[in-house]
Amino acid sequence: MTDDADSLAARERRREPRRATDRGFDPAARLADREQRDLRRDLQPVDRVAARTRVAPDPRGAVPDDGEQQLLFAANDYLGLASDERVAQAAAEKAHTTGSGSGASRLLTGDTDAHRALERDIANAKKTERALVFSSGYATNVGVLTALEPDVVFSDELNHASIVDGCRLSGAETVVYDHADADALAKAMDRQVDRETDEESWLVVTDSVFSMDGDIAPLEGICEEAERYGAWVMVDEAHATGLYENGEGIVGHEELTDRVHVQMGTLSKALASQGGYVAGSEKLIEYLLNAARSFVFSTGLAPPAVGAARESLRITREDDTCRTQLWRNVKRLREGLAGSGFEVWGKTQILPVVVGDRTDAETLSDRLREHGIVAPAIRPPTVPEGTSRLRVAPMATHTEDEIRHCLDAFEAAGRTTGIL
Ligand SMILES: Cc1ncc(COP(=O)(O)O)c(C=O)c1O
Repeated sequence: MTDDADSLAARERRREPRRATDRGFDPAARLADREQRDLRRDLQPVDRVAARTRVAPDPRGAVPDDGEQQLLFAANDYLGLASDERVAQAAAEKAHTTGSGSGASRLLTGDTDAHRALERDIANAKKTERALVFSSGYATNVGVLTALEPDVVFSDELNHASIVDGCRLSGAETVVYDHADADALAKAMDRQVDRETDEESWLVVTDSVFSMDGDIAPLEGICEEAERYGAWVMVDEAHATGLYENGEGIVGHEELTDRVHVQMGTLSKALASQGGYVAGSEKLIEYLLNAARSFVFSTGLAPPAVGAARESLRITREDDTCRTQLWRNVKRLREGLAGSGFEVWGKTQILPVVVGDRTDAETLSDRLREHGIVAPAIRPPTVPEGTSRLRVAPMATHTEDEIRHCLDAFEAAGRTTGIL
C-alpha cells in the first residue's frame, strides 16, 4: 500500500463503529470501595471559623441560620485570629488597595508590594536573610522538596502528607526514620554512608510540632546528627509558627536558626490566613523562586490572604495576649482531661485524647456533639491502628466557662461510653 492508501485506510477505520470499550472511570465503585474499607469522608460545613460556631447536622445539608452554636475544639486557628477584627480589616484593605486576587504568577505580573512586605516580616521574625510565600503550605513543601532535588531524604515517619508527597515527586531515595528519634536518624545515616557510591546531597526533613501526636521533634539532636554527616535540615513549622515569642516557632524558641537551612511553615493555622512560606538564605530563596514549580506555575498568593497573614504576624510579634490565653487554656484542658482519667498525649497546644479502638473514638466524638462539643475522631489510616483518638485543640478565644463545659462534657461522655 502507498502512504496515501495507508492513511485513507486508517481514516476509514476510525469512522467504523467500534465495539464500545469503557476506558473511563467508575467513581461510584471507588466510593463504594472506600465506604467498605471505612475510608469514606464527608464535608461538614460550619457557619463561621471561630471558637463558637453552628455546624450543619447533615453533611449534605446547609448550616442552620439559627440552630444552637457548638464549641469548636478542633481548629488549627489556635490563637482565634480568624475571627479577629484587626485581621479581617487588614484582609479587606488589601482587597481594596491591591486587588482581590494576584492575577498571575509572581514571576509575571502577580508580584506586589504587599507580598514583598509580608516576606520581609517573615524573614525578620525567622531571623533569616529572606522568605518567599506560596499559595499553600502543601504547595510550599512540594515545591521546595522537588526544587532541591536531594539524592537522599531522611524523613520522620509521622511527617505531614505534603512532605511525603514532596519526597515522592522529588524522585529522591527516601529513608524513613522512627518518629522523633535522633538516634534512629543517626543509624539510618550510618547505613546510608556504607552504601554511598558517589557524593550525594542529603536532606533531613521533619515537622517541628506533629499535628496528630502534638509532640515536638528533638531538633537539637537532629541538627547534631545532620551536621556530623554534612546534611541539610528542613523543618516544617506549620503547627508552631506564631505560638512562641516574637511570633516564632520551635526553631527560634530553641535558638536553632543558624543550624536549620530551610524553615518552612504555613500562614493558614495560627496566622489565620492562607498560604505557606519558606525562609532561609538569600541564595536559597532566589533559587527557589526560579525552580519551585508550585511557585513558578501558580498564581501569587491572593492579596487579602497576604494582608491577613501580615497583620496576624504583627499581632503575634507585638502582643502576648492571645498567646498567653492559648497556653492558659491548653494547661487547664490538659490537666482537666488527664485528671478525669483520659490518656492525653503530646506536649503542645494539640491534645490527642487517645482511646484506641476506632469505634470507641467515633462514639465518644458523637456523644460530645450531643453536649455541644466538636472534636472529631481521628482514625487509621491517618493514625496507626489501635491509637484512634480525638484531636482536641483549644483556642485562645475559648472562655474559662467554655473550657469547663468541655471538661464536663468529656467526663459525661467518657462515662456513658464506658471509656472512663
Ligand atoms: C505539618 C503540616 N505541613 C504542611 C501542611 C499544609 O499546609 P496548608 O494547609 O497551608 O496547605 C499542614 C496542614 O495540615 C501540616 O499540618
